[in-house]
Amino acid sequence: MSVLAAPLLLEAAGYVLVAAALIQAGLGTWTLWQRSVAEQRAAAAAAEHFARRADLILRRAEVQRDRTVLSWNGWRKFVVARKIPECEGTHSFDLVPHDGRPIAPFLPGQYLTFQIRRPGDDRPLVRCYSLSDGPYRPDVYRVTIKTVPPPPGSDVPPGRSSSWFNQVVEPGDILDVRAPSGQFGLDPHQETGVVMIAGGIGVTPMISMVNTLSATGTPRSTWLFYGVHNRSQHAFAEHLAELRRTVPWITIVTFYSRPTPSCVAGRDYDHVGLITLDRLKATLPSNTFEFFVCGPPPMMEAMTRDLRAWGVPEERIHFEAFGPATVRRQGGGETGAPAAVGGGHEVVFSRSGKTVHWPDRCTSLLELAESNGIAIDSGCRAGNCGTCAVAIKEGTIDYLTAPGEPPATGTCLTCIATPASRLVLDT
Ligand SMILES: Cc1cc2nc3c(=O)[nH]c(=O)nc-3n(C[C@H](O)[C@H](O)[C@H](O)COP(=O)(O)OP(=O)(O)OC[C@H]3O[C@@H](n4cnc5c(N)ncnc54)[C@H](O)[C@@H]3O)c2cc1C
Ligand code: FES
Repeated sequence: MSVLAAPLLLEAAGYVLVAAALIQAGLGTWTLWQRSVAEQRAAAAAAEHFARRADLILRRAEVQRDRTVLSWNGWRKFVVARKIPECEGTHSFDLVPHDGRPIAPFLPGQYLTFQIRRPGDDRPLVRCYSLSDGPYRPDVYRVTIKTVPPPPGSDVPPGRSSSWFNQVVEPGDILDVRAPSGQFGLDPHQETGVVMIAGGIGVTPMISMVNTLSATGTPRSTWLFYGVHNRSQHAFAEHLAELRRTVPWITIVTFYSRPTPSCVAGRDYDHVGLITLDRLKATLPSNTFEFFVCGPPPMMEAMTRDLRAWGVPEERIHFEAFGPATVRRQGGGETGAPAAVGGGHEVVFSRSGKTVHWPDRCTSLLELAESNGIAIDSGCRAGNCGTCAVAIKEGTIDYLTAPGEPPATGTCLTCIATPASRLVLDT
């Protein structure tokens, strides 16, 4: 038994004892005192509740143990088993381990990290993609990838990794993959209601969550608010329509910001426009849910700000950035203080021989380095993959958001770090 699982097993044992005591008390009382049927029913319901809690906790302990035992370090080879079109410029990829050995379970919401070696590139690309199915397929991981278009009005090529996946990768190809990780995860063994708010391809972790919750078969109040441009961008449309028809405790509300004449209200989408707090308030019975938010930066910023204003406690607002981190965790600096913004501190890049001052417009040390011609390898640019780690020779940093992949002691993830004092970096 792993150290992690021990406290959970103790908690579960407690629930089992309480359930047993309640059953015994209920039966004994019935025999001896002929108590009312209502009292017996109440005792039975309480016993069932405690037994269910114990079962959930035992299952959570099993999953934690398997995650620890079956995870791996570094890169592991996976074969693309299937490539499935989802919507315009977007495919899902089923991946099976090349070594045929079991894969590690994951929390719905977590992601895989890929090392991509395209012919002609002088160095590999590192990118993260969220797992887009529940963890109940014992030998397959699925990710879903949307080609990132060039910025409007520019003539640069589309995103390198995303277009390579969608245009070049085919079944039979072999990919280098790191074990599932990330802190944006839903605990399927809790009973609190869940609200997911997804924009565009930010729906992928939510699909993993919603599939997990429907597969457990245990009713848990669940809401998915999903915003896209129109039907052509609506990934998983048929699958979500099926869930809507068949799982009564899951409510799916779809928003199209730019419906075309062929989009049908009531069939394809429910509302025109963006997901707003007013719409959440009008739809949800209260704000006492766990909230999960993933989408484009403006949506993330607006939603997390509005949820806080609505009185949702910080610990119940979970968010994932697919690109540069723009939302700050309140009170989330490395020191627990509110995240700093650099404060004009001097930053020395010792190997490059450059000293600069932190300018107001900069968002991260990575951006500061790049804008001064200093190359630092990067992958996710959101504190998740560890690629941009650099040793700190002197000084302290703050993080804009907590690292998904904690870096080695004495180093920092430059893509989400800002200086908290004069800083000397080993690059
Ligand atoms: C935790 C996490 C989970 C994620 N999950 C998913 C997921 O489930 N699905 C998904 O699709 N994505 C996901 N992402 C995003 C994904 O990791 C990549 O960031 C995304 O695919 C873009 O990478 P790319 O290599 O295609 O784009 P890049 O090559 O990095 O390009 C990014 C942008 O820059 C533009 N560009 C290209 N060249 C230039 C140039 N010379 N000058 C200026 N601009 C240029 C491109 O046109 C594009 O708009 C996730 C990210 C994170 C951090
Ligand atoms: S680039 Fe991935 S952690 Fe910084």
